[in-house]
Amino acid sequence: MKILVIGSGGREHAIVWKLAQDAGRPEIFCAPGNAGTAELATNVAVSAEDIPGLLAWAKANRPDLTVVGPEVPLCLGVADAFEAEGLRVFGPCREAARLEGSKVFSKEVMEAAGVPTARFRVYDDVKDAIGGLSEFDYPVVLKADGLAAGKGVIIAATRAEAKEALQRMMTERAFGDAGTEIVMEEFLEGEEASVFALCDGEHVVLLPAAQDHKRVFDHDEGPNTGGMGAYTPAPIATHEVMRFTRRNVVEPMLKELRRRGISYKGVLFVGLMIGPKGVNVLEFNCRFGDPETEVVVPSIASDLVPILNACVDGTLTEDLVSIRGEAAATVVMAAPGYPGHYPKGLPITGLAEAAEAGCHVFHAGTAMKDGRLVTSGGRVLTVTAFGKDLREAVTTAYDGVRRISFEGAHYRHDIAEKAFHRL
Ligand code: AMP
Ligand code: GLY
Repeated sequence: MKILVIGSGGREHAIVWKLAQDAGRPEIFCAPGNAGTAELATNVAVSAEDIPGLLAWAKANRPDLTVVGPEVPLCLGVADAFEAEGLRVFGPCREAARLEGSKVFSKEVMEAAGVPTARFRVYDDVKDAIGGLSEFDYPVVLKADGLAAGKGVIIAATRAEAKEALQRMMTERAFGDAGTEIVMEEFLEGEEASVFALCDGEHVVLLPAAQDHKRVFDHDEGPNTGGMGAYTPAPIATHEVMRFTRRNVVEPMLKELRRRGISYKGVLFVGLMIGPKGVNVLEFNCRFGDPETEVVVPSIASDLVPILNACVDGTLTEDLVSIRGEAAATVVMAAPGYPGHYPKGLPITGLAEAAEAGCHVFHAGTAMKDGRLVTSGGRVLTVTAFGKDLREAVTTAYDGVRRISFEGAHYRHDIAEKAFHRL
């Protein structure tokens, strides 16, 4: 069996790692992959955003299954293009991927499905938007409609800040066409959790909840990043929260999409805010989260291929998915300067030593240069460990992190601390 994984980050390395253990021993390809995926799969030199290039490769090589990591190819319609050629894809079609690709669409479907989310208004005119500010308290949340590489959300503390942000988004088009329309919404207090819902269009299986750490520095300070670490299970997402998420969020969303003739197949990432206003949806993503995948996917005890195939075939059942029952934590090691400008090509050492400490080191931004492992991105590595409890998982992960070095490496020292406070 041949499997193609699309993407090149820690998420894709973790998916490739899990697929490589499958009883069916699939032959794995990764487009474009990184130095980590190259150890378990054949990297294919096609960008994850080059749909014609991916399709050409797939038509020539006929993978039995394609797993799409990032949102951009899904929003560009990679699943539709592959399916039109009779190729099986784990990942939603373009229309379904709009849950991530368009904040306006996502809010509209939530409203129609009765899914709890922050009160909101949509604007396509900057003057109207500025006028609309009077309906909200501060801070107020402003979201560019389209994909903006995680930068399209602005939390404005004052009216002056909000006005300036609206002008930047809607008039100056700081995020390009993504700012044609904006969502203005109420700021919700609380703690976030990420829930991955496996979906086959109708049936749903939730994976254990995780929590990301979006800010670059300890105690949630500094600018936002792609994510600096994660852990699972997240105690904030109690049984009750998970049941609520399934019944009052994911199932109604799939039903509302079906009513519109859209079948959601793949993983639906539910970004929750749990706080004084109960459980609310902040966002949906149409894919696995990164770095949450680096703890959640390794926590799946069962083989992954039958699960992904069941999502494609519409035969998903709970008994396909068993969970290891241990805690897992992952710590992202980033290049100096990240999330701002950072150098590339820094030699990396200590991976074998981290593995000896019991860690799984997933590569995010790495490459081989003259036979040496070097950095090639902002998030460089993500170091995952399991433990009988979260404390043990975190201790082991940091033991691994301390054994790895590259010039200027930085990471957060407080992964899972919120969970420790709660526990
Ligand atoms: P999004 O891309 O919609 O998840 O937004 C990115 C981040 O902005 C979230 O992970 C939250 O930390 C924050 N955020 C988004 N919407 C809200 C909201 N309504 N209230 C508070 N924080 C929010
Ligand atoms: N970790 C958040 C995301 O993948 O969007």
